[in-house]
Amino acid sequence: CGIVGYIGGRDSKAILIEGLKKLEYRGYDSAGIAVYTADGLEVRKSKGRLAVLEEKLSDEPLHGSVGIGHTRWATHGKPSDLNSHPHTDNSSKFSVVHNGIIENYLELREELAIAGHRFVSETDTEVISHLIASEYDGDIVAAVQRAVGRMRGAFALGVLTEYEPDRLVAVRYASPLVIGIGQGENYIGSDIPAILEHTRDVYILDDGEMAVLTRDAVELLTIGGDVISKEIFHVDWDLITAEKAGYDHFMLKEIYEQPKAYRDTMMGRIAEDGRSIQLSELGMTQEQVKEIRRIHIVACGTAYHAGLVGKSVIEQLARIPVETDVASEYRYRNPIITPDTLVIVVSQSGETADTLAALREARRCGARVLAITNVVGSSVAREADAVLTTWAGPEIAVASTKAYSSQLIAFYLVGLYLAQELGTRDEAAIAEVASALLALPEQVESLLAQADALKAIAEKLARHNSLFFIGRGLDFAVAQEGSLKLKEISYIHSEAYPAGELKHGTLALIEEGTPAIALVTQEELAEKTLSNIKEMKARGAHVLAVTNESNLQEVAKSVDEQFAIPNTLPILTPALSVVPLQLVAYYASLALGHDVDKPRNLAKSVTVE
Ligand code: G6P
Repeated sequence: CGIVGYIGGRDSKAILIEGLKKLEYRGYDSAGIAVYTADGLEVRKSKGRLAVLEEKLSDEPLHGSVGIGHTRWATHGKPSDLNSHPHTDNSSKFSVVHNGIIENYLELREELAIAGHRFVSETDTEVISHLIASEYDGDIVAAVQRAVGRMRGAFALGVLTEYEPDRLVAVRYASPLVIGIGQGENYIGSDIPAILEHTRDVYILDDGEMAVLTRDAVELLTIGGDVISKEIFHVDWDLITAEKAGYDHFMLKEIYEQPKAYRDTMMGRIAEDGRSIQLSELGMTQEQVKEIRRIHIVACGTAYHAGLVGKSVIEQLARIPVETDVASEYRYRNPIITPDTLVIVVSQSGETADTLAALREARRCGARVLAITNVVGSSVAREADAVLTTWAGPEIAVASTKAYSSQLIAFYLVGLYLAQELGTRDEAAIAEVASALLALPEQVESLLAQADALKAIAEKLARHNSLFFIGRGLDFAVAQEGSLKLKEISYIHSEAYPAGELKHGTLALIEEGTPAIALVTQEELAEKTLSNIKEMKARGAHVLAVTNESNLQEVAKSVDEQFAIPNTLPILTPALSVVPLQLVAYYASLALGHDVDKPRNLAKSVTVE
């Protein structure tokens, strides 16, 4: 989603709309603005592209010099006029725009409903406007602080109240927000591009900080109420760089967004005590879970690779047989789909024609369909029986990174949930995996800090025109994704192979200097993979191993180069080991001078079969 806000001496409408246009690259499904007008606080909002809102505004104009605006990327509630932001309370005196997710919104909503509040949308944001209204006793800053104190989750907020037309309040907690500093006017934005046209001097809020904007001043506080001071950040990026938050490419930005995508996808789904998984989204009673006899995972491209990990994860945790199919094959192989089959379709965009056709076929055969998708309200989400959303946020680069890894997180949650409902894993075992899951975001951060080492490796690989990725078990699943990533953006041919299968044919392709990337993260299989590495090396291969820290010394003896991922449970290594492979692909493409974000011949979303 995108947020923009203005307080100053000019008419705010155009500034808000222009700001929202700059956020278009984030993708959106609805937009709206609230402006403090001569008649009080007024809102215009609508589903669809910004042009729809602009049309509405030309029929029913809004004039005023204080306003907030929002473009929505649906989270709670499908794209619709009512679910669009800004949201107001019943008195229409308070108006809120919000990015993020409020975990405990149902609880708060229930409480407010008992107190007489009436809700018109399905969103978590509407609850915030009511909560602020109910906390208000003459000081909007104090009301926002109290309201925020009751909210759990991630949020960036812009808040206006008709009672105090000279103040605009902004809050940041685990969702970005910047404050733009002008002359006699000030701004807020979820992203720098939204305000870059007007000012290059910004405060970048940190988690737990808020700002109170008037025309002439910006006061910075903590959510707790302590006044703070911050350095002004001078933005010297051009607009294109600003859209990428300073990264050279969207792909790199999205690789670096993975820790956040992991946190957001887990948020609210692991119980606070870390001992159980809450997936009411699946809409299944324990009895219905017990009736599942088989699971089919169906997807295309990168999402299919996530499904390969999903198969292994679900089988290990829940002991239900799982098959994973490429969607374009699934329909035509006359699969055995029965009413006790759970079909899980995986799609970042939710619009892939092959995946959608497979979903329809599964439903026609009477199976229950669960969609794992990144886009709320997408075709796949609408047609499935249940939806588990990955909260990776909009993915722009054609080569999928954060969407894939968030799909892995979704599969861990599904596997754990099924195990919990079926009793194939006890509470202690669930808690052990859950705690290792919660550690992943920080572990990914530590991997990202070593990107330079991978850049050097990738630059050497880029001189070759063919290479191998090998691994066993989950490592083979990740090898396939690593190979695809490299092919997609560097155009270097590569082959992912199960390590033990090389000797049955492919070894013939190895010659002096052939590069190979070997994944060795599965303790139980490490020794066997090492033997396969030796077979390759004996034929002249140059091997880079991606292995766990604890294995590093042992593995280093048998390979030419090595890269370590932090130690985690064997089942969770894909969520870490894919990161170096993404970076290798990225830097190889960069070294070859290709268009990283828009590789030749490919499209982000393929809506033909
Ligand atoms: C296209 C993209 C791939 C993607 C696949 C599935 O081919 O180029 O990167 O993995 O579609 O997309 P989906 O949106 O269904 O995950």
